[in-house]
Amino acid sequence: MRFSTFITAVASLAVGINAYWLGDISHQGVAPFAGSGYKVFRNVKDYGAKGDGSTDDTAAIAAAMNDGGNRCLQGCASTTTTPAVVYFPAGTYIISKSIMPPYFTQLIGDPTNRPVLKATANFAGFGLVDGNPYFTENLNWLSVNVFYRQMRNFVIDTTAIAPATAATGIHWPTSQATSLINIEFNMPTDASTVHVGLFVESGSGGFMSDLTFNGGATGASLGNQQYTMRNLVFNNCKTGIIQLWNWGWTYINLQFNNCGTGIDISAPGADNTLAVGSAIVMDSTFSNTQVAVKTAYTTSTTPDTAGSVILENIKLTNVPTAVQGGSGSLLAGGSMTIAGWGQGHQYVSGANRELSGSITPNARPASLTGSNGFYSRSKPQYNTLPASSFVSARSSGAKGDGTTDDTAALQSAINAANNGKVLFLDYGLYKVTGTLKIPAGTKIIGEGYPIIMASGSFFGDINNPQPLLQVGANSGDAGQVELTDFVVGNSGPAPGAKLIEWNLASDAANPSGMWEVHARVGGFQGSNMQVAQCVKQPGSAAINTNCIGAYMLMHVTPKASGLYMENTWLWTADHDIEDSANTQITVFSGRGLYIESTVGNFWLVGTACEHNHLYNYQFANTKNIFVSMFQTETPYYMPLPDATQPFPVVASLNDPNFATSCSGVAGNCAESWGLRIINSSNFYIYGAGFYSFFNNYDTSCSTVTAGETCQSRIVSLEKSSSINIYGLNTIGSLSMLDRDGASVASWKDNVNVYPSNIIMYKSG
Ligand SMILES: *[C@@H]1O[C@H](CO)[C@@H](O)[C@H](O)[C@H]1NC(C)=O
Repeated sequence: MRFSTFITAVASLAVGINAYWLGDISHQGVAPFAGSGYKVFRNVKDYGAKGDGSTDDTAAIAAAMNDGGNRCLQGCASTTTTPAVVYFPAGTYIISKSIMPPYFTQLIGDPTNRPVLKATANFAGFGLVDGNPYFTENLNWLSVNVFYRQMRNFVIDTTAIAPATAATGIHWPTSQATSLINIEFNMPTDASTVHVGLFVESGSGGFMSDLTFNGGATGASLGNQQYTMRNLVFNNCKTGIIQLWNWGWTYINLQFNNCGTGIDISAPGADNTLAVGSAIVMDSTFSNTQVAVKTAYTTSTTPDTAGSVILENIKLTNVPTAVQGGSGSLLAGGSMTIAGWGQGHQYVSGANRELSGSITPNARPASLTGSNGFYSRSKPQYNTLPASSFVSARSSGAKGDGTTDDTAALQSAINAANNGKVLFLDYGLYKVTGTLKIPAGTKIIGEGYPIIMASGSFFGDINNPQPLLQVGANSGDAGQVELTDFVVGNSGPAPGAKLIEWNLASDAANPSGMWEVHARVGGFQGSNMQVAQCVKQPGSAAINTNCIGAYMLMHVTPKASGLYMENTWLWTADHDIEDSANTQITVFSGRGLYIESTVGNFWLVGTACEHNHLYNYQFANTKNIFVSMFQTETPYYMPLPDATQPFPVVASLNDPNFATSCSGVAGNCAESWGLRIINSSNFYIYGAGFYSFFNNYDTSCSTVTAGETCQSRIVSLEKSSSINIYGLNTIGSLSMLDRDGASVASWKDNVNVYPSNIIMYKSG
């Protein structure tokens, strides 16, 4: 052991510079629309940062962020044309003003020895890292349009700032396809401390994991539409989490040690209402903490179901009060395990609508469980591999320039990496005109979200779909694949493109994984589906066939099994990211994610699927599915056109047939399902938000006063059993949930802060 450690150390000295492979490999990413000489990768030390614990590195880090002249910061709406990966080697970087990463920036520290960002005593700014600055009274970017950014492997230190002086570690109001991973926040523990580790006031997230908060008044102050957060540790915080507002939230594996309050979801809203929609807390521990969870839900608070909560598998050690309500203790604590407890509206056969008290959680299938609750695996960063273990797509001949056909070069890069190596997909836009076959054993990691784009006639037939990425070239192939940090999409019309076809069978004990692998159809430079080609046409049901971008975003075929998906956003664009006004566009994609694995064993953790035509999520003939926070949106153009055209109904794919199923259903029935489950069983859904905001680009249908009339139905369970849903949220749909063609619950019986909420549903 010692000897090989020594050899590794000598080897890394020999190649010179960094401990982590990302610092050592050659950097060849190209951003074809950013101008010549534009650098995607920036090492802060190349811009003069010292990381020596004494030099003020603020200006050097800003220079690394802003290099290139045309980066998207103040006054810029959003962009995909000027990406940056900003790398921080180990060291202590002293900063005196906020670091403001422009749009489409990744901040990556060395995970083998995390860099420290340390504030000076007189630090000025809202966050050592300010992910969305207030240059004016408004956030710089509309927080619901902040996509494609991440930050990982850092220590954020505010201990040099006086405890009673306001200080924030990271300010992060962002949305889909963003993440904070593997970050420690160090704050003063003095009684007078007012420091806050993480502050999020808005957005439509999202995902975060592996964060530790030490000290401070509040570990994390969180307001956002919905989130999955995993593996958060709070030590010596006055309050671990203050939930400012939300529509829904799922917390997995939190640990609170020596805090005053663990999680506070009791925040008031305007006019005597509650601000927090609901929260699910699972597989978590609270130790030496006065109050584990503070709630405000009662049968007389408003809105009706606001403040709903589920606790499942919660271990308490010396916690006097488990749940504290507005007028005292609702559940005494001690040292014990809470199997299940909840408040809100339940739809469970034989039970009262009002839930307040203990619940009996569903038995979890062994195939879905890991060492601590449901199986999970944080994003691989390949910390132990040397640079020589990586095969570069560019070195293998791929151009990534958005115009060259890279099909053959990428396939040979995939093949070259398939012997214990990892394919490094250098930043670029890779145009592909055929199927890329990804065999068992493949590992791919992208640099700053490169995109592989389906292009040309191979993907042109709406009646003959072809896969862009085919994982497991043959149905029934077995083994494991790991895909991380890249995007699949289209360049030009691709009505026959299935962006990902997953055929691979993986053992549930050793599943395959996808982390931050996203789909993006239209809405970016290189897609040829922007404002110029596909601007919205309100009032018209005409279908511009040049704006059909995909047949299906992801298809998991019958013999596939065993896949862990984390922070995956399958997006058919509703607006043009490059447009200065984020103008809306009409782009069509037939189907979102379809899983028809007969073996099952899938984990969907912090995934979202938006604006797909027939459905966003559909499952058929499958079982054993764990979900943490489904999130969908119905296409904004519907019902002009509605879902009956232009995609022909394919019976072998179990497509919904609205022409027949809508008979007798009032309202806008032929619209995309948020979720449809057919002939399936054993679903464990922890949080869901199915949203229909628009009626032909007009939002007036998605309000309580308008009667949530955007569409008739949004979730359908058909011939299925053991479907368990905690925290079902819907917006804009008359029926919240249908079973075998009949509505189970109406929005108006379950009004929440903006959505309607059912905190617990069991299909039986
Ligand atoms: C229902 O699913 C099971 C298990 O996957 C399958 O064997 C059966 O054929 C399916 N039934 C129908 C009607 O599709």
